[in-house]
Amino acid sequence: MAEYLPILIVGAIIGVFTVIFVGVYALEKRKTGIKGYDRHMPDREIVRRLMHYARPYWKEFALALVVMLVSIVYDLASPLIIGDVQALVKGPFQLKDLYLRVAVYAGILVVSMICTYIQAMILQKTGQKILSALRQDVFTHIESLSQEQLNNIPVGKLVTRATNDPNAISFMFTNVLVTLVKNCMVILGVLGAMLVLNYALTLMVLCFVPFVVLFAVIFRAFSRKAHRAVSDATTDVNTYLSENLSGIKITQIFNQEQRKMEDFLKKSRQLEKAKEQRMLVFGIFRPMVYMLYISTVMCLLYLGAKGSIQDRVFFGQVITSEVVVAFYMYISKFFNPIQTLAEQFDMLQKSFASAEKIFTILDMDPALVDEPDAIELEEIRGEIEFQDVWFAYKPGEWVLKGVSFHVLPKQTVAFVGATGSGKTTILSLICRNYEFQKGRILIDGVDIRRIKTDCLRRHFGQMLQDVFLFSGDIRSNILLRSEGISDEEVWEACRYVNADSFIKKLEKGLDEPVLERGNNFSAGQRQLLSFARTILHKPSVMILDEATANIDTETELLIQDSLEKMKNIGTMLIVAHRLSTIQHADNIILLSDGQIVEQGNHQQLLHQKGRYYQLYSLQFKKQQLQNS
Ligand SMILES: Nc1ncnc2c1ncn2[C@@H]1O[C@H](COP(=O)(O)OP(=O)(O)O)[C@@H](O)[C@H]1O
Ligand SMILES: [Mg+2]
Repeated sequence: MAEYLPILIVGAIIGVFTVIFVGVYALEKRKTGIKGYDRHMPDREIVRRLMHYARPYWKEFALALVVMLVSIVYDLASPLIIGDVQALVKGPFQLKDLYLRVAVYAGILVVSMICTYIQAMILQKTGQKILSALRQDVFTHIESLSQEQLNNIPVGKLVTRATNDPNAISFMFTNVLVTLVKNCMVILGVLGAMLVLNYALTLMVLCFVPFVVLFAVIFRAFSRKAHRAVSDATTDVNTYLSENLSGIKITQIFNQEQRKMEDFLKKSRQLEKAKEQRMLVFGIFRPMVYMLYISTVMCLLYLGAKGSIQDRVFFGQVITSEVVVAFYMYISKFFNPIQTLAEQFDMLQKSFASAEKIFTILDMDPALVDEPDAIELEEIRGEIEFQDVWFAYKPGEWVLKGVSFHVLPKQTVAFVGATGSGKTTILSLICRNYEFQKGRILIDGVDIRRIKTDCLRRHFGQMLQDVFLFSGDIRSNILLRSEGISDEEVWEACRYVNADSFIKKLEKGLDEPVLERGNNFSAGQRQLLSFARTILHKPSVMILDEATANIDTETELLIQDSLEKMKNIGTMLIVAHRLSTIQHADNIILLSDGQIVEQGNHQQLLHQKGRYYQLYSLQFKKQQLQNS
């Protein structure tokens, strides 16, 4: 009995640690709950849909698998060769025998390295292709969603769906799956080899396996929690940073730097703490697993030394020194994959969670789909008719209540009314950004729902208050993506809307760089560029929603002039607060709370002495006060 005392001591130590760990784990689970990843889609469904992306590359995957199997030979054969060398050096030997073994060892090593390299290359390439396909699908699908749907998803989330989540999936294809298969093969292979060599020692090694598995599972639970805390804290810091960098001017104007800094410090500390926690988790568990490994090796050496030195039979088998050497190497090759197996399964879960998020986006049906018999209009004359249109963003809360009006081709119609009266909403309905609930909208006498959306948008030009300029140069911002348009035509459009004079003054003219969001241009200049952008495509219907709001008096004169010219191009619908901008409109529609209260031209409305008259008098008085 006494000769097995050391082994019993090792066993007792491991037992104590196990009890402590399981205890801590149970406590933690009761206290905070250690969760997996929340998912709703069944695994089988996710796998089926992921296979759809992987199937085109089955040949690559098969090749990678074969190459991987070859590379495993090294893991299995190297301990045998070293064991053989041990057997060799025991007795009198010839150097040439040793050289032979070294050569074989080196050969296998080189082949295995080449195989690993080839496998990595194949998988990385394939992974990138799958990644790009996924990203493309997500982006295209997001583009097809209606504004209503997009309003409900934060932009940051969409960006994650198109970047991080596809990354996680591609990582699964390139790394997780293959490593999983490889690890299983190695475990089985090593186990087989050990059994053949010495089943008694193999049994001894197997005694430790449940502990490795247990420790690894507990470790994964803690580390997942720690990872989550770190990633939450990182998102928090990033969100705070991006929002406050965009709003930094406001912070400075209101002298809020100190308070913002304290807020940021708090979030930063949180991240710091989360990372410390994660380090702690790794710091405890890594040595624990190492302890198990060392214990196994110690038992092996103890038994092995006893066996081979005293030439004793152990469980019916003789232990030789070459077997001990081979086992020594096999043990590490055996423990590593078992330990990482839990990690691999966890990553698989993580990829599945990402996949589910992507598929949820892809499953959102675009709210706005053309009817199968939707028609294409070659030309649009620009006649617009609203017939008793009712619309609500949220069911029951009517924003437009029975709006009817009629616009003839090439007419200019202005919408006036208090903020929130529904002007923008009317214009959005004409562009089919939203689906209305009751009534009819006719374009050239055709129901708008029967016209293809892209046809509508091609013939319509929208100019909004917030002009969005993309980073690039002036030319690309005016052209957007239309091709085959010469600089002559671009300049002509610019002249038409009086944008040419300021562009000419720029150092590089049309090539002048545009910074993100067009920050290096004034609001008025951006507005003129957006006019040029719209005019270039000669739209049949032009829509200006407060496009003249943030413009100085001098630029306003320019814009006034270009609006006059633009009237010749097609129908024009204008929302403007300055009544001077709309005086010359053919029809002025006054809205209040989603209903039309007055309509007619400037003179008619003044005669009526109604609300328009009041508005006009107010602005007129204000103007006189400013002038005096
Ligand atoms: N995306 C939206 N979701 C929900 N309600 C909206 C949305 N856009 C506008 N509204 C509401 O619809 C009403 C009309 O808005 P809008 O047409 O933008 O007014 P206007 O352009 O005349 O200032 C407002 O009460 C506003 O709160
Ligand atoms: Mg508006």
